[in-house]
Amino acid sequence: MAEPSGDQSIRRVRLNALAYGGDYNPDQWSEETWHEDIRLMREAGVNMVSLPIFSWPQLEPEPGVYDWEWLDRIIDLLWDAGIAIDLATATATPPSWLLRAHPEMAPWDADGHRLEFGSRQTYCPSSPIWRENVARMTRAMAERYGKHPGLAMWHISNEYGDHTSRCWCPETAKHFRRWLENRYGDLDGLNEAWGVNVWGQRYTSWEHIETPKKAPGPINPTQLLDFERFSSDALLELFQIEIDGLREVTPDIAVTTNFMSMFRDLDYWDFAAVEDVVTDDAYPEPADPTSHVGAALNYGLMRSLKGGQPWLLLESSASATSWRDVNVPKAPGKIRVESLQAVAHGSDAVMFFQWRQAKYGQEKFHSSMLGHRGEKSRSFQETKALGAELKLLEPVRGTRVRSRVALVVDWDSWWGSSATESLPSQRLQWARQAREWHRALYTLGQPVDAVRAVGPFDAYDVVVVPNLYIVEQPQADALRAFVERGGHLVVGPFSGVADATEKVHDGGAPGLLRDLLGIEVDEQWPIADGLTEQIDYAGETLTVPSWSEWIEADADVEVRGRYTSGELDGLPAVTRRPVGNGSAWYLSAMVDPDGMLPLFRDVLRTAGIPARDATDVDIEVVTRADDTTDYTFVLNHGRNPVTFHLDMPGTDLLTGIRHEDRLELGRFGVVVLAAPRSAAIPFPTLIRTPVKEDA
Ligand code: GLA
Repeated sequence: MAEPSGDQSIRRVRLNALAYGGDYNPDQWSEETWHEDIRLMREAGVNMVSLPIFSWPQLEPEPGVYDWEWLDRIIDLLWDAGIAIDLATATATPPSWLLRAHPEMAPWDADGHRLEFGSRQTYCPSSPIWRENVARMTRAMAERYGKHPGLAMWHISNEYGDHTSRCWCPETAKHFRRWLENRYGDLDGLNEAWGVNVWGQRYTSWEHIETPKKAPGPINPTQLLDFERFSSDALLELFQIEIDGLREVTPDIAVTTNFMSMFRDLDYWDFAAVEDVVTDDAYPEPADPTSHVGAALNYGLMRSLKGGQPWLLLESSASATSWRDVNVPKAPGKIRVESLQAVAHGSDAVMFFQWRQAKYGQEKFHSSMLGHRGEKSRSFQETKALGAELKLLEPVRGTRVRSRVALVVDWDSWWGSSATESLPSQRLQWARQAREWHRALYTLGQPVDAVRAVGPFDAYDVVVVPNLYIVEQPQADALRAFVERGGHLVVGPFSGVADATEKVHDGGAPGLLRDLLGIEVDEQWPIADGLTEQIDYAGETLTVPSWSEWIEADADVEVRGRYTSGELDGLPAVTRRPVGNGSAWYLSAMVDPDGMLPLFRDVLRTAGIPARDATDVDIEVVTRADDTTDYTFVLNHGRNPVTFHLDMPGTDLLTGIRHEDRLELGRFGVVVLAAPRSAAIPFPTLIRTPVKEDA
């Protein structure tokens, strides 16, 4: 099963199949159970497991005393059964003896309290002791298992930042100062960047700079923004320490760390740049019948982080989680449609947390592939069936998702517009805005990639920017070039406001985007809680719940929508500046998600991209393709049957049935239609809107 990559410049996961399996914690079970596990894994089609993620204390029970034998045995047993290993470096959490010997490596919260042992991730990302020990453990793992034929890839740490993404301890303060010195050169540079003349904050010594703990009033926004950047970088350094150690011993084995979808605290563009393969942990809320919409954006980001390269769904839940307030199980069939959705969006894996449901500890109520009832459990029956189906999807492995639309994801703007309380309104939430814009595009039938604010935009006809609070020249230049070569750009409110040090651009928003958009913002005009305003957009009324802006447009700019209520009544709300074959649109308000539909419908029409008429979010169509073949996933996330008219015939990889022009899908139904690659992205039309019944 293992396949040496041969090519050391592109390290590939050593598994020549779509990966199927989950986290495996053999150290919670007897050896007798291991044998049953392996038998059932084979039955379920499992070909890869992730271990030993949290096992450092079992592998090094005392400082310098290792116990590898149990891990040797289980790895050999798994590999003998043809199951490859996504081998964790076991550095997700420290053993108690390490923390006891070095209490200074524990993380502190913003109130200055040290966090105690008893959970996981009890470490300060900046701690030299932690870093030293992580490097040592990683090296020990690499030396022990680096040549094992079952080693498919390295799984570094686990979900960086899940519990400890920020630390306010004295060691972190020292590290923060070094980071700042590196960024600004000297104290004058820092004082200038932080705008310290406001509220008398001039620094005369590096030692005076602290992590932004609780203060009497609002903290300097640029200090907060830099702390966000620094904290992401601190974990990135930790990641790099492990990568460096592994590359020395196993230069041709792929490395990854599992992401947490669209996670605010870490700039995943930076993390993805240093790893070989993107992996993600996805937990759509089973109680939310539209959670697949959010998942589509998360997956759009995952496949984009390394420029469209397939990624791996490394964790998901077979049914309920155990960390929500109310942990609702997944309805029958949901595991399948959700898992296949990830594959549709470019994942070459379906993996779960975890293989066998725990008997004790914090996660004993978290579902698993093999539930407490064992083979009889519904989760086992459903995941076993899924494992068989996944084999039929082998042709899609390595193919890429086709999309003409991208959404800009920018962590600097996310942090800048959320780290501080000193904003025009706390209702302008970056992630919510991004999700609502994406939801409208999803509803119109678009698979959406994510893209950095500096591009590259070459693959796209439409780029939307829900919010780009911080804009510097490279972003402005890239967006301008996109429009000038015929692209259609939509920029959302509160964009182009500040530079990277959060200084408002001369002339105010949209700053460096002013000429491209052809508008000026006179004042941001947030809307008081409980009130709403309106926009007339080509005869349709858009509801504006929380944010509007007083804008003025240049003479060559078309006003597509105007405010029709409140103080801004009659003023422009939505504008479009034609630029050659391209166009630059500005939406000055946060509007209700449905209100985005007429606007995006217009933009897509301008770009010549077909959009769906029906507005039912249960339906999803995504095409993966190689040079010759389109694999079109048609998914029904809902419970009501739907019918499509196909624009081209195709053969379902899952059933072998050829569909000529009509396709019916039942509750949670999925087909994967293989057909010769067409010039246009396949776009089946929904011909019967499902009749809503009570689920
Ligand atoms: C995360 C972690 C796992 C487990 C799951 C439970 O994804 O990586 O170790 O705790 O959550 O959902």
